[in-house]
Amino acid sequence: MQEEIWMVIMKRLNLLIMLLILFIGQAEAKDVFKPYELWPDTDGLHINAHGGGVLSHGGLYYWYGEFKDRGSKANYGIACYSSKDLYNWKNCGIVLKVGSRGSEIEKGCVMERPKVIYNSKTKKFVMWFHLELKGRGYDAARTGVAISDKATGPFKYIKSYRPVAGHWPVDLDKDKRQALSKAEFAAITAGKEHWQLGKTEYLLQRDFTEGQMARDMTLFVDDDGKAYHISASEENQTLHICQLSDDYLSFTGRYSRVLIGQSNEAPAICKYKGKYYMLSSGCTGWAANEARSAMAKNILGPWKPLGNPCRGVNPHNKLGPEKTFGAQSTYILPVSGKDGAFIAMFDIWRPSNQRDSRYLWLPAIIEDGRLIVQWQDQWDLSWFDGDKSGKDSK
Ligand code: DGJ
Repeated sequence: MQEEIWMVIMKRLNLLIMLLILFIGQAEAKDVFKPYELWPDTDGLHINAHGGGVLSHGGLYYWYGEFKDRGSKANYGIACYSSKDLYNWKNCGIVLKVGSRGSEIEKGCVMERPKVIYNSKTKKFVMWFHLELKGRGYDAARTGVAISDKATGPFKYIKSYRPVAGHWPVDLDKDKRQALSKAEFAAITAGKEHWQLGKTEYLLQRDFTEGQMARDMTLFVDDDGKAYHISASEENQTLHICQLSDDYLSFTGRYSRVLIGQSNEAPAICKYKGKYYMLSSGCTGWAANEARSAMAKNILGPWKPLGNPCRGVNPHNKLGPEKTFGAQSTYILPVSGKDGAFIAMFDIWRPSNQRDSRYLWLPAIIEDGRLIVQWQDQWDLSWFDGDKSGKDSK
């Protein structure tokens, strides 16, 4: 008899424990963005998808980003989360895993700023990311490409590039189209560092044969289906905007140099009413600096700098536009079904514990021909429905 009572108690206890696990494990559904705060996924764990971008496909959003450990090296790979509403994100796991020893993407390499686009002709999902080879710091300056049949992977790593080897930018004067060997470059620059050179063409000419450097990057698909790879090149002095092949897996060789010598990184691009808008940062490593914006009528340029797009102050760290609220840009997400509504995505880096880096997702609109990013302590998508008359968007 005693044994039976004991069995009933045990069963009840088990049930209680299971209910507790379910209850604690499931984070409460969210209907607001809380910039800067921990952002739990549907399992209740802080989202781990840094330097990321979002793909909208088939009625769902997919957020891809760097899955960080305490440090900044890639120990697992690229993470993906999915969402119906942009507030609540389900962990879809590591969709591009680091490779085994000897692979270009072996554990301990650097895989940063992954972006995924969908190719409607090939029906494939294509991921590009900034790749630094293991043990070489940030010297390799390469971009890697991977492919998948499904948004949630698994992505298969294909290869890495130094982009547009053997091609000159569309906007380079004919008299500057002269490749330099490493020895010629060394002789001309005579030990001076790149910022002391005055002429940035030297770096472009040095890398003509091997391919151009590619660090912080983003992707942009235009209305005609052509895709572009935008990256910090020439020792981070100049951005390159390079057209991708029709299958999005390589470069056509058509590219331009943008904001020459202005040291931009963390580029993000959106398009509104036929014009292109860019958000970027200066180059100060993990430390925040002042955001920049620019506008162009043609994606390959010329791009006109339009200054700092940020408005407001982050009360958590008291930082405003002069330090981009303590953050660095990573992507501009057009909100589905809301014309002229964008989310400017930023990272607040925590180099001492990178997986605890935070996200700032802020509303962005085009106002009087400029990109504007507005600080909000807490907000939701109805922010875009308010009266913002007299503005270009909304
Ligand atoms: C700044 C870049 O924007 C980041 O993605 C990262 O590469 C750090 N530099 C590394 O210092």
